[in-house]
Amino acid sequence: MKRKVTKAVFPVAGLGTRFLPATKAIPKEIMTLVDRPLIQYAIDEARAAGIKEFIFVTSRGKSALEDYFDHAPELESSLRKKGKTELLETLKTTNMDSGAIAYIRQHKALGLGHAVWCARRLIAPNEPFAVMLPDDVIAGEKPCLQQMTEAYEETGGCMVAAMEVPKDKVKSYGVLDVSEDMGHMVKVRGMVEKPAPEDAPSNLAVIGRYILTPDVLSNLNKKKSGAGGEIQLTDAIAQEIREERGVYGFRFQGQRFDCGSKAGFLQATVAFGMSRDDLKDEFTQYLHEAVAMSKAAQ
Ligand code: UTP
Repeated sequence: MKRKVTKAVFPVAGLGTRFLPATKAIPKEIMTLVDRPLIQYAIDEARAAGIKEFIFVTSRGKSALEDYFDHAPELESSLRKKGKTELLETLKTTNMDSGAIAYIRQHKALGLGHAVWCARRLIAPNEPFAVMLPDDVIAGEKPCLQQMTEAYEETGGCMVAAMEVPKDKVKSYGVLDVSEDMGHMVKVRGMVEKPAPEDAPSNLAVIGRYILTPDVLSNLNKKKSGAGGEIQLTDAIAQEIREERGVYGFRFQGQRFDCGSKAGFLQATVAFGMSRDDLKDEFTQYLHEAVAMSKAAQ
């Protein structure tokens, strides 16, 4: 029986330069899809997968993120007085049990691998943990991390969420070299961070959901910088394969939006707007009109 995954690390210390000037004052993870910040989608997904402890790797300028998870007594009492029970229920999803959340600082944005390494003292020996990047938002019937934790109970080792991308896009991702394809899952024999299309071993790209063993943290201890001069998580996971421990790619069910990019964020806004019962009629009608107007203007 594999150990259950109950802890997740959220690396949120990046500079978010693709969203400047907004991210000069607002953490990227607080930007909202419809009416919920990106981080809330990640927290809901983590909770659905059985995560009980939440570790945020933050940096300067991220205090709005910390405040977001606090109780807001004045707001709550005002809503209570006005009988706004539905909104009060919504607010509850933003609260964390005492001691369930921890913040660790990454003093310098040295890369995703370094951000995860910053959380090393909060992970026990032999304790598997999840890593979730909140700017990857995944819509689907069963939340992505839950699909992964269920599959992980069979495999153990390390697992990364994977999806097929067009060959000309591989240079934006970590890419898997597959030794065995089992359909919804692949066994990995190598990983390359941001390869040129002609050097990519496949078009199966890693996206922001991982289940890792503490061995990966030991690999990160060596702290060698990789592609782009950053300390890469991919390199530390690839080290596991060299040491003959299992690494799996998991083809999840669902639609992934890259909310770290402007185009991806807009696509997610449209998709989530269209899927909301309270908005879909008005919003979908507007979209039809907007598309028709734009076609007519061409
Ligand atoms: P990105 O590659 O999207 O970088 O990081 P970024 O800084 O957030 O955004 P851009 O590219 O400048 O627009 C992927 C994830 O890794 C975290 C980010 O916060 C994001 O969740 N990260 C990245 C860190 O926590 N620390 C780092 O040093 C780098």
